[in-house]
Amino acid sequence: MPTVQTMPSPTPGADLPDPADPSAGVGDSFYPLLGNGGYDVLHYHIDLDVEPSENTIDAVTTITAVATEDLDEFNLDFLGLEVRVVAVDGVDAEFSRNGQEMTIEPIEPVLSGVQFTVAVSYSGTPQPVDDPGVPFKQLGWHAEGDVIYTVSQPSGAMTWYPNNNHPTDKATFTFQLTVPDDVTAAATGLLSDETSADGLTTTTWQMDDPMATYLAAVYIGDFERHEQRLDDGLLIRDYIPRGSSVSIFEQLAVAPEAIRFFEEILGPYPFDAYGTIVMPFRLGFALENQTLSIHDANTINPYVIAHEVLHQWIGNSSTVADWSDIWVHEGFAHYLGLLFSTDLYGQDIDTVMAEEHLHLSLTETSPPGDIEAHELFDPNTVYRRGAQTLHALRTLVGDELFFDIVRTHYEQTAGSNASTEGFLGIVGDLAGASAVSLVESWLYDPELPEFSLSAVEGTLT
Ligand code: ARG
Ligand code: ZN
Repeated sequence: MPTVQTMPSPTPGADLPDPADPSAGVGDSFYPLLGNGGYDVLHYHIDLDVEPSENTIDAVTTITAVATEDLDEFNLDFLGLEVRVVAVDGVDAEFSRNGQEMTIEPIEPVLSGVQFTVAVSYSGTPQPVDDPGVPFKQLGWHAEGDVIYTVSQPSGAMTWYPNNNHPTDKATFTFQLTVPDDVTAAATGLLSDETSADGLTTTTWQMDDPMATYLAAVYIGDFERHEQRLDDGLLIRDYIPRGSSVSIFEQLAVAPEAIRFFEEILGPYPFDAYGTIVMPFRLGFALENQTLSIHDANTINPYVIAHEVLHQWIGNSSTVADWSDIWVHEGFAHYLGLLFSTDLYGQDIDTVMAEEHLHLSLTETSPPGDIEAHELFDPNTVYRRGAQTLHALRTLVGDELFFDIVRTHYEQTAGSNASTEGFLGIVGDLAGASAVSLVESWLYDPELPEFSLSAVEGTLT
């Protein structure tokens, strides 16, 4: 069940979903239909047979969940494709579909507290979906050239597997991918098994840490895998288009450095592995899919690599409970990504932040705590002013307290959900009311607050 208590109060006058109606979503400010009530998913087993030349799939997704109330029926988020059969605890169930809502009626009600499985068999060509938060890209399953890939943040996961599509319901995952022998398949998680028969190869991938639905990803194409273990045993595996220049792997070597850098600030890397997959075409952005970020050749520079690495802590392990709080992901990733890249290049963070502030002062932006859905990934409003918010806090309270706040915020929300309100609570506890009002002015004032030069020494201790 979603952790409703961490949800911010809903916008007055908004068309509020009724929590008693399982089809009505979990009450996200921007995505009223995403997620479903009445159950808590424990595990997804996604079994995908993919024919890349046709871009078709034949799939069974089996969800293990616990009912949090008595369920005569319940909903999954699932869009498109053809559903053959739905079985609850192995018994065929009635189902109906309406847009992204699939309603399932088991033969017998599932009683509150009881664990159950729901297996959905489906096939066809997955179609990506329009998302109000990402006007620059359709989300979900994509086929481009010889590559199949998924980019789902926030809503696209429902285009390729049925799920409870909201970060308040994280689960573990198994991916079982069957593809022709001549292509490489990869998924978020650790490769645990590989078998071949009749010209087809099946790989199995385990994600044993809780993962939000939007961070699950599969990639299929002609990729070269490159694998290494860091000194402490952390597995790094990267995928680049076969035949790319070796310098690409060299550029990716920044990722382990960024992992070490952020471990100093936030504590141990949260997952079993990390890696980058590089697309052979322009994507226009990078995305922090859990343990295996997707990039294109233009986004494998130290800043963006570090930004996606940072999201593994803040974004993936600690994930917002409401999409309107996205600055908590992107403001932190932008600021800490810049801390890494300025350190690498020997630049002064104060100077870089002053330049970004000047840029913001010349641009029309809204405050990051008060955005509309279409501004979710706005680089000025959310990323830059979000980072300015953190820098202003650091300037006020000094390095020691600032990094204490950042680490406490992460530790209290790791493996779970975060919110602006929770962050402000920590700022108040550790730094007091004046620090809270400063942060609030950066988050909520229509006007951009003044930049103040700090006594920050420039480097981290
Ligand atoms: N979270 C990504 C980043 O800043 C941005 C992704 C934007 N694209 C998308 N499909 N959501 O690292
Ligand atoms: Zn980001």
